[in-house]
Order: sequence, then structure tokens, then C-alpha cells
Amino acid sequence: MNILFAASEAHPLVKTGGLADVAAALPQALRRLGEDARLILPAYRGVAEAAGAQAITSEMGLLTGTPPARLLQGTLPGSDVPLYLVEAPGLYDRDGGPYASAGGLEWPDNALRFALLARVAALFGQHDGVAGWRADILHCNDWQTGLTPAYLALTEGTVARTVMGIHNLAFQGNFPPALMPLVDLPPYSFQVHGTEFFGHLSYLKAGIYYADRIITVSPTYAREIQTPEFGFGMEGLLASRSGALSGILNGIDTDYWDPAADEHIPAAYDATDLAAKDTNRRALEQYFGLEMDTDAPLLGMVTRLTWQKGIDLVLDALPALLEQGARLAVVGSGEARYQEALEALAAQHPGRIGLHLGYSEPLAHLVEAGVDLFLMPSRFEPCGLNQMYSMRYGTPPVVRHTGGLADSVVDTTFRSLQDGTATGFVFTAATAGALQEALMRAFILWRDKTSFEALCRQGMGRDFSWERSARAYLAAYGEMLGGGG
Ligand code: ADP
Ligand code: GLC
Repeated sequence: MNILFAASEAHPLVKTGGLADVAAALPQALRRLGEDARLILPAYRGVAEAAGAQAITSEMGLLTGTPPARLLQGTLPGSDVPLYLVEAPGLYDRDGGPYASAGGLEWPDNALRFALLARVAALFGQHDGVAGWRADILHCNDWQTGLTPAYLALTEGTVARTVMGIHNLAFQGNFPPALMPLVDLPPYSFQVHGTEFFGHLSYLKAGIYYADRIITVSPTYAREIQTPEFGFGMEGLLASRSGALSGILNGIDTDYWDPAADEHIPAAYDATDLAAKDTNRRALEQYFGLEMDTDAPLLGMVTRLTWQKGIDLVLDALPALLEQGARLAVVGSGEARYQEALEALAAQHPGRIGLHLGYSEPLAHLVEAGVDLFLMPSRFEPCGLNQMYSMRYGTPPVVRHTGGLADSVVDTTFRSLQDGTATGFVFTAATAGALQEALMRAFILWRDKTSFEALCRQGMGRDFSWERSARAYLAAYGEMLGGGG
């Protein structure tokens, strides 16, 4: 089966969140199962060089509003995944992030940048494909590639089947309808049964409407997004397409996230030797200048600092937690209001809060390995990867019962601890009080070292490898090709 993943980020070339991890890992897992999975990304600054990419087409004029594009081909570093890159003068080769400037301002031409990515990806699903390779399945990811299913549905010569992968419904790519002619969408497609969403041209809605299948990154999220609380206005459309909608829980890269072989942590360990975790905790405490008392657990977070992630719940609960002796290590970046609140708290409580504002891959690994409990009080979480990383690192996660968190973490009760299924602490209400209550239960268990270590080991024993997810994707692709979608 020929499968093309169209995405706007992929680890290790460009990453702002979990999508990058998935876009890199799933094609590799599919290749290990014998399928020809490939990836297409924009040629952001430095990416072509890192991927050893060479031009494979001449310039193609594809969209009215964008400069002509050229395709390059290389390999995703650290893998055998063939990587296509879309190169277009002025569109991708610039300093800053994939979606915004270094100062955090969204690029004003994002609508054009990602329409072009989507249009080029679509070429692989039409006629004979590109440069001798044609996709049977075009697997799109989030709004940045949401127009691919629309282009394929609205043009002749389409052979590929399309999947709209949803990693986060909160980001929709909604733009003024005046853009329609610039991205070459026919005017008649601007309607409820098409690309229109509350008066806007919506890239994600287009993908959801036109794709053959819609696959979210956890089964619970697939159900949640059909309700107003999680649907961000798209619940009606999603419910109407429920027959084509399902959820497959992401896996994690168990080689890159392996406490027994992690170059970013000072002491390697596995489930038989949790004592080495202390060495990592000390390294983390030292790095952040944290008090080294061990009367209360060290808490950790590695996260985008946004409303989605429930940062305000942590901020509200923190004074009480600190009073009980807890310490907190945070590696994150995002909204200024949360950054400032965390900075203020850290200044008020020296030695109790370690804060790294910014992105740091090594610190993310050290936090997973070094803290006692990992916090993810997300308001919604399509899948979430960090809770799986932390289980693998013997660090029980404390999570809200939503999306992929609900599908991957088993709450600790007397019974689940006894029968070996417990892996963390789960709470339901999106309130600081509910988070505190879950943490109280965690703190009590933490004081009983034998039981707490049993919990850590249970998480370490869970299988979150990509193979299971990749098989589920293959089954879905197979149905689409065999059964007509
Ligand atoms: P989301 O994609 O919604 O941000 P996920 O849990 O799926 O949430 O994935 C987040 C990924 O990004 C994880 O691999 C996590 O380690 C990483 N990450 C987030 N913020 C940072 C940061 N400041 N430094 C390093 N890694 C980070
Ligand atoms: C999104 C979601 C996150 C998910 C990731 C990868 O960023 O917010 O929950 O794990 O995509 O699918």
C-alpha cells in the first residue's frame, strides 16, 4: 500500500507539539509492517539540507495566489522514510516557527502557505502521482492539510482515498472567503456542504467534509468532538459523519523515549532498578536549584502553556500544594499570561519551583525521568503523549478524564493497585479542587514507597508502542480501499 502523510511538522526537523512526533513515528511504524509510507512537509528553513533533499520536479504553477512550487525529495533524518518537501520562493524559507514568527505573531500568509502544501500533496493522489510514485491513501493532518481532501474531491483524475486526521479541533484554519479564488477553490464549494464554516473558509471543515474517513487520535476524543463541549462548532458535521469517524490511540517512540537508553538523562534505569531514578531527580533538582528535601513529591510538567492544558488549574492549586511541601518543575512555553504567573510564583517560592520557559528536548526527558508525578490536567486532550512517556519512565501521571488521557491512564484505587492495572491518578471536574484531591491521593500513596513503586512499575510495563496503532490504521486503510470508504 502506498501511503502519503501530509503534515506541517515532523520530529526531528520541525516540532511544536505532538503532531510532529506522530507524523514521524506513524510512517516508520507502517514501513516496519511492510507498507510504503512516505511524508510530505514544507521546505522550512534548513529542512532540505537536514533531509539531504534534491529537486525532483521543475517549477509548477499550482495556485493563483502562490508562487510556483518545486518538489524536493530526501529522507526523514534518523529513519528510512522518504520525505518530499514543497519549496516555494518566500513561503517557507524564513526565520521563526512553522506557523508564527519568533515573536509569536502568526504568519499573515498562512492561508496561502498551507493551501500550497495541501495542493502539492493532492498531486500524489491524482493520475499517475508525482515522479513515479502515487499514493493509494493520502493521510492529512489537522487544518494545515485540510484542503487536500477538498482538492481531490473537486478535481478530476483522483485515485487516492483520503483520511482527515484530527489532532486538535481547536485549530481550524478559518480564513476570509475572499481567499477562495487565490487558492483555486470553486465558488460553489463555499457552502454548508463544502468549505464554508460560519461565514469563513475553513480548511479543517473542508477536510472533515470531503475526506473519505476521519480519524482522531483517541477513541474517547472521537466521541467527545461530536458534542458541543468539545466540537468547537463542528460537532454537528462530525456527528453527521459519525459512520466515517473513529479514533485510534497514538503510540510513542519507545526507542527515543526509553529510560534504559536515554542520552538526555544521567542515570539509565528500567523497572527492575528504580533507585536510579533518584540520581535523575537529583540532577533535575540541581539544574533548577530546587530544595532537596524529599518529604513531599516533586511534580513535573512539559507542556504548551495554553488554556487547553489546564495551566490555570495548576496555578490555582499550587499555593496549597507548596504548603504541603511539594515542588514543581515546569518546562513549557506559550501564552504570556501563564508564563508571567509562573514566573511570579517561582520568584515568591525560591527553591520550590523550577521553571524553564522555552522549548528544551533534553530537559523534557530529564523531567520525565526525574519527577515523582507528572501533571496533565488538560481541559481537552485529543491524545496526549506525555502521559505515555511518563508511564514509561516510571513517573505516574495525574490526569483529567478526557480524550486520550482517559484512554491511556488507569486511576489508582485499592482494587486497581491490587490487580495490577493502575497506572496513575485520574480526576474528572476541570477544577483546581479536583486536581488537588487527585494529588492528595497521589501524595498519600507516595509515602508508602512499596506501593508507589509498584504503581510506577505497572506503568512501565504497559505497551504504548506504535505497532498496535499502525495495525489499526492499516485495517482502516484496507477497509477504505476494499470497501469504497
Ligand atoms: P500537544 O501536541 O497538544 O502539545 P502532546 O502531549 O501530544 O501535546 O505532545 C507534546 C509534545 O511536545 C511532547 O513530545 C512534549 O514532550 C513536547 N513538548 C511540549 N512542550 C515542550 C517544551 N517546552 N520543551 C520540550 N518539549 C516539549
Ligand atoms: C495534538 C493534541 C495532542 C495529541 C497530538 C498528537 O497536538 O493536542 O493531544 O497527542 O496532537 O496527536
